[in-house]
Amino acid sequence: MIQFNCNNVSAMIVGEDNGLNLEEEFNNYQDKIKNIIADLNQRKDKPGQWLQWMNLGYNEETLWYVKEYASMVLGRFENILVLGIGGSALGGLALSEALLHPYWNLLSEEERNGYPRIFFMDNIDPDSMNALFDVLDLSKTLVNVITKSGSTAETMSQFLIIKDRLEKELGDNYRYNIVATTDKKTGVLRQIAEQEGYKTFVIPDDVGGRFSVFSAVGLLPLALAGIDIDAIVNGIKDMDLALKNTDIHENIAAQNALIHYLLDTKKGKSISVMMPYSSKLKYVADWYVQLWAESLGKNTDKDGNNVNIGQTPIKALGATDQHSQIQLYNEGPNNKIINFIRVKDFDTTLEIPNIFEYTGIGYLGGKTINRLINAEADSTRVALADYKRPTVTITLDKIDGYHLGQLLYMLEVQTAIAGELYNINTFNQPGVEQAKNYTYALMGRAGYEESANELNKKIQTV
Ligand code: PA5
Repeated sequence: MIQFNCNNVSAMIVGEDNGLNLEEEFNNYQDKIKNIIADLNQRKDKPGQWLQWMNLGYNEETLWYVKEYASMVLGRFENILVLGIGGSALGGLALSEALLHPYWNLLSEEERNGYPRIFFMDNIDPDSMNALFDVLDLSKTLVNVITKSGSTAETMSQFLIIKDRLEKELGDNYRYNIVATTDKKTGVLRQIAEQEGYKTFVIPDDVGGRFSVFSAVGLLPLALAGIDIDAIVNGIKDMDLALKNTDIHENIAAQNALIHYLLDTKKGKSISVMMPYSSKLKYVADWYVQLWAESLGKNTDKDGNNVNIGQTPIKALGATDQHSQIQLYNEGPNNKIINFIRVKDFDTTLEIPNIFEYTGIGYLGGKTINRLINAEADSTRVALADYKRPTVTITLDKIDGYHLGQLLYMLEVQTAIAGELYNINTFNQPGVEQAKNYTYALMGRAGYEESANELNKKIQTV
């Protein structure tokens, strides 16, 4: 199991102004946490609660269909192209970056064991889209278009461009190059998919975008690229079992949720930094940023009070960002809690040769890069503690599907528990919808005319 160390949050280490008397707080909140965990588990099967993500690890049917389809299309395509944005892209991106060879798309087909290259198009920058078309043969590409609402402007505009190109190239057969992941009934993409005869996968009811990584949204692209999704699912299940424990002393998601909540509300730590010491985990930090920001950044609580709460999540990469952000974290405003992710055993080992005797670098010779990156994580953690900055450390034995399934699921549960502590709706995103609606209006979608007139006036004055 992944390990969680919160010693450096303790007031004994970072001082009363910045830290917590952990044992005391765990005991104070034990009953509340127990009720939250029991309540989440009791509500998770009820429609309208948006907690179906807690059941995704047990969805044998989806797992079977995803694997079946992936094996059916294996060998037919050179590339997988995922179209999606936000929760419809970040989970698959984070896990594929973590679990595939870091230069997967540059490997030969043989080196990839016949599995396709994989690309994520999660923005609408015209230059990068056109550049991708320069290097991708669309006729040999399986396009997985993912959108829960079925109408997100970014994803659907990408889809329209690609559908048009594919159809011009392949005629009626173009449909076999498209697989749609969307709601089972509603949305324009569902209508188009049925009308055009695409293969489809369902995003289950009551699973929001940022909690959808373990549905077909994340699992299908991963399986298509040959990643062992059974291992991921085993990780989710084992973590789910561990997190059903209502004793906060045994529940790492509850501990980290409470630590973040108390540091934010009592000690002014309004920023949560996610800092993995592994390039492969870089996009896990991106995924966390969306999860924490969209879930907890809310203006009203469940009782209708205006609260404007939510920590600002920031992504950092160790050791790279030690040379960019750590100066600020050590000496700037003491307003952050920093989450380190540390990997015990990397897949490979790299020894530093002993070729120069200079005192400045001679000490590196004969050591491994593996030891260096973990020494940097440890020394940064200690330096932050010296500066009285609270940190927690999550340690993965290794970067594999099993541990990544555990990690992402743990962070989802942590977010859900934090939402309950803040007493807000963790699963809506009215602020995102607002911007989406404004975009529809500006781009001339029918039904948004009035809003478009007002917006155009505002754009001229703002
Ligand atoms: O988490 C969320 O709900 C959002 O980030 C969505 O995933 C994002 O806006 C994309 O929405 P959709 O899947 O409807 O295209």
